[in-house]
Amino acid sequence: MQYDPANAFVTPVALLAPADAPALTLRTMTAADEAEWDEVRARNASWLDPWESNDPMRRRLVTFPQWIRMQRRDERAGAAIVFVIVFEGRIVGQISLGAVMLGAMRCGIVGYWIAHDYAGRGFTPLAVAMLADWALHDPDGPNLHRIEIDILPENERSRRVVQKVGAKYEGVRRKYMFINGKWRDHESYSLLAEDAPDGFARRFLDDTPGERVSSLS
Ligand SMILES: CC(C)(COP(=O)(O)OP(=O)(O)OC[C@H]1O[C@@H](n2cnc3c(N)ncnc32)[C@H](O)[C@@H]1OP(=O)(O)O)[C@@H](O)C(=O)NCCC(=O)NCCS
Repeated sequence: MQYDPANAFVTPVALLAPADAPALTLRTMTAADEAEWDEVRARNASWLDPWESNDPMRRRLVTFPQWIRMQRRDERAGAAIVFVIVFEGRIVGQISLGAVMLGAMRCGIVGYWIAHDYAGRGFTPLAVAMLADWALHDPDGPNLHRIEIDILPENERSRRVVQKVGAKYEGVRRKYMFINGKWRDHESYSLLAEDAPDGFARRFLDDTPGERVSSLS
């Protein structure tokens, strides 16, 4: 991978939710997260496995320390970044920006999951909005123009996430990603920098009707 210091992400990155939102932090991972990350993933295996993407050509699984080293390398290259979603000091999920292309594209693809016992509290749409603010608007971020979210057609919960953040539907990408052992068609949604000039988190929080804001906790 080509290393150009001008493209490197400024890390360690910790992104904080607005003061009137649930106190989520998105932060990059370290080797010290291994035990907690393994525990939350093991506890949520049946919840997450049906939606899990992976590389069909990768024969050997990477160890956690190798994965952290890959993350640092990708951050230096400005190619990808992985954040854990932290609430009340615990890892409750993960959100990542990958497949970053610079130059005339300046775009990337977002993926996410939340632990089952924290589902339904609006944490993921808030995390997507926070990531969008960093990726599309923050001068210290990668200054992208567009981010994309791709979901399996049957993933109703993820469709609610893209609807809540106001992502625009663009169509179906054929056999777009390898999910749980198969190439699968995906619905593709996007957020552009100009879609929320005052910020995606602000728009998400302001657009949320009263009863939902009170259910965010
Ligand atoms: C998709 C996902 C990230 C949504 O995260 P979230 O933080 O729960 O998002 P929200 O709180 O906005 O809830 C989204 C929908 O989940 C459903 N939901 C609500 N409470 C729930 C619960 N306790 N358990 C399961 N689903 C619930 C509702 O349909 C909700 O939509 P609504 O608010 O209109 O009722 C999460 O369901 C998840 O991690 N699923 C497994 C992995 C996955 O699908 N990743 C995305 C791949 S594209």
